[in-house]
Amino acid sequence: MRKAGILGLTAMVLLMIISWMNPPKKPHPIKFPIPKGWPQPLYDFKSNPLTEEGFALGKKLFYDGRLSKDNQISCGTCHQQFAAFTTFDHPLSHGFNNQQTTRNAPSLQNLAWQSNFMADGGITHLDLQPLAPITAENEMAETLENIIAKIKADKEYAKLFQAAYGNANINTQRIGKALSQFMLLMISSNSKYDKVMLGIDSFSLPEKLGYGIFQNKCASCHPAPLFTDNQYRNAGLPQDEVLKDLGRMRITNQSADSLKFKVPSLRNIALTAPYGHDGRFFALSNLFEHYRKQMVLGPTTDPQFSNRLPLSNFEIGQLKAFLNTLTDSVFIKDPRFSELGITNAPGNHGH
Ligand code: HEC
Ligand code: HEC
Repeated sequence: MRKAGILGLTAMVLLMIISWMNPPKKPHPIKFPIPKGWPQPLYDFKSNPLTEEGFALGKKLFYDGRLSKDNQISCGTCHQQFAAFTTFDHPLSHGFNNQQTTRNAPSLQNLAWQSNFMADGGITHLDLQPLAPITAENEMAETLENIIAKIKADKEYAKLFQAAYGNANINTQRIGKALSQFMLLMISSNSKYDKVMLGIDSFSLPEKLGYGIFQNKCASCHPAPLFTDNQYRNAGLPQDEVLKDLGRMRITNQSADSLKFKVPSLRNIALTAPYGHDGRFFALSNLFEHYRKQMVLGPTTDPQFSNRLPLSNFEIGQLKAFLNTLTDSVFIKDPRFSELGITNAPGNHGH
């Protein structure tokens, strides 16, 4: 009797020591870094608290071709880091079976400050965004059921889900939230422009002149620090006859929204050619010719363009110099976001 009691007690103490040495692992929180002078983000982090483990899971998903039907096309195939996460040099991107997308892939950056996604704002939560490319026939062409089955078959994922969420349950919601965690930390705020604003660098003369012109002629729609006002506007691009894209009207059904598209951010603009919602402008020069001469004035064209956007050759030269200062070479090389870079988000370093 007594012997059994001592044995039982020893076992209990041993168990206590073991559990004290191995407490259930909690994910490590990441504090979302807000660059100096920027507004509060719009993303609701309470519903998806950022953790190093959630970020690591999101990163694996972002670069995993198994999210597509032929196991070849990952998010990162169309959203390439060296091009600020747009598709380099392509008006439209290639998806499953070499089919094309119907719009130019936008850069992925500063997504925490956006509440609507896609050029027409058709997606109203970042966590839901991945479902669109995953299920689109011309993008990843896969079903959520198949993806979950593929992920479940991979032991590495079981570990990552366990680490991020405390158990290995794999579902669509968790996939969306983990991808959001990875994308939300893609903050671009380290350009020359930012350094000038922080007083640690200075503009050259052409950049300075360009900045002045920009504030007069562009900042009403492309205001700092995000370089977009997140509104839908018609910048006078005539409708493409094949794509027949109505823009915002596709979502609202209001003719007043016909041909209006989300004002894109101009951060990293030197890296994200071609331009326009369908990538019709191969270079900035083409876009400037559009702004000053070719703009089609219709019923929904933005009232600010009633006289198009007059620009002299000199002004265009200075504007280009200024726009180049929006390139963030730290962002496009940041190993946290690169396919082969380190997997863990190193807390809230940087920015
Ligand atoms: C075949 C190419 C392709 C693939 C694969 C792809 N995307 Fe995209 N992505 C696009 C295009 C094109 C758009 C713009 C669509 C539009 O505006 O209608 C876009 C838009 C987005 C946006 C909205 C950005 C904004 O500023 O509005 C996000 C976020 C995004 N993609 C994330 C992802 C994620 C996450 C994945 C993987 C699950 C993914 N994409 C896979 C081409 C792709
Ligand atoms: C009245 C609002 C407005 C003004 C003013 C304006 N833009 Fe835009 N800009 C837009 C809209 C809307 C688009 C998207 C057009 C589309 O794709 O249909 C756009 C697109 C762009 C693009 C293409 C971005 C991309 O990623 O495809 C660049 C570059 C650009 N604008 C630069 C400028 C510059 C430089 C000026 C000043 C000379 C300027 N804009 C003035 C509304 C404006």
